[in-house]
Amino acid sequence: MKINHNPKFDVIVVGELNIDLILNQVHSFPEIGKEKFSDAMTLALGSSSAIFASNLSSLGLKVAFIGKIGDDIFGRFCKEQLEVKGVDTSMIMIDNNMQTGATIVLNFGEDRANITHQGVMKLMSVDDITGKMLSQGKHLHFSSYFFQPGFRNGLNVLFQKAKEIGLTTSLDIQWDPMERWDFDFGQVLPLVDVFMPNENELLHLTGQSSIEEAIKMIASSGCIIVVKRGTKGSLLSFRKDIVPCAAFVNNDVVDAIGAGDSFNAGFIFSYLKNRPLTECQTFANLMGAISTMEPGGTTAFVNYGQIMKIARERFGYAE
Ligand SMILES: Nc1ncnc2c1ncn2[C@@H]1O[C@H](COP(=O)(O)OP(=O)(O)O)[C@@H](O)[C@H]1O
Ligand SMILES: [Mg+2]
Repeated sequence: MKINHNPKFDVIVVGELNIDLILNQVHSFPEIGKEKFSDAMTLALGSSSAIFASNLSSLGLKVAFIGKIGDDIFGRFCKEQLEVKGVDTSMIMIDNNMQTGATIVLNFGEDRANITHQGVMKLMSVDDITGKMLSQGKHLHFSSYFFQPGFRNGLNVLFQKAKEIGLTTSLDIQWDPMERWDFDFGQVLPLVDVFMPNENELLHLTGQSSIEEAIKMIASSGCIIVVKRGTKGSLLSFRKDIVPCAAFVNNDVVDAIGAGDSFNAGFIFSYLKNRPLTECQTFANLMGAISTMEPGGTTAFVNYGQIMKIARERFGYAE
């Protein structure tokens, strides 16, 4: 059956939802049988997918979220936080039997140790996402494959559906907490327009020891590949070339939570405006850097005007 493509939203994000309880200024690593202090704490909207959706909406695009929450306080918090940032939550599903996910983040400078309880994010599957839902967007973004077992061996079906309707697509696979890296990229990547792993994830996924070899291995799928490299910036690969782009240096990092998701938001924002790919990459680096200026992944993103003011004043960015 042919589904009408009638986009009301620029981007539909399919992904996991959870809160982040962020403990900053932790005195030392946790140890069994002991108790330690942390001197600062933030409760924030967590999950890569939600941070991406929220920041893209703050940049000014129309964004809708598809995910699952429980009928509980964390679920209501996630929904509210998305709504505050202007993200449409009408396609978020509430499950009465399981809890909303939560991540405890122990922050040590620019690095962090996370523990996630997945809760209901484990339940969403490709069968929950109908063509009618997808037809409301121009672009589909999916994140955090290994957190959502309902998409195992089904992600290609989701992207295939999106492609048939006429959406462009992007994927951030994210870290595999089980460290098995079981992902059939040959099946999925040909359906993805923009693939956005970080360096470490890409090496694990491909089993290669150099980024160049890893890129070469997946380049035949034909997608645009953007590789995030923390303070080293990013690499962009499309067809033959690999183009590096240095990071906008922030010597005053509060935390790097959501830097990768903000990077993704910057890239897709520019991509949907049909800007040249190297411009998308620069804008992505800029959004990653801006994210490190405030706690959590979304605090630094108020609205387009504010974001561009920081870009100009702090990073000397000229539009
Ligand atoms: N300390 C930093 N200073 C400036 N930019 C940063 C910093 N950390 C990250 N970024 C920017 O954000 C992008 C994404 O961050 P990264 O940590 O690589 O992503 P991920 O969270 O997916 O691992 C980087 O490519 C870089 O451009
Ligand atoms: Mg990431």
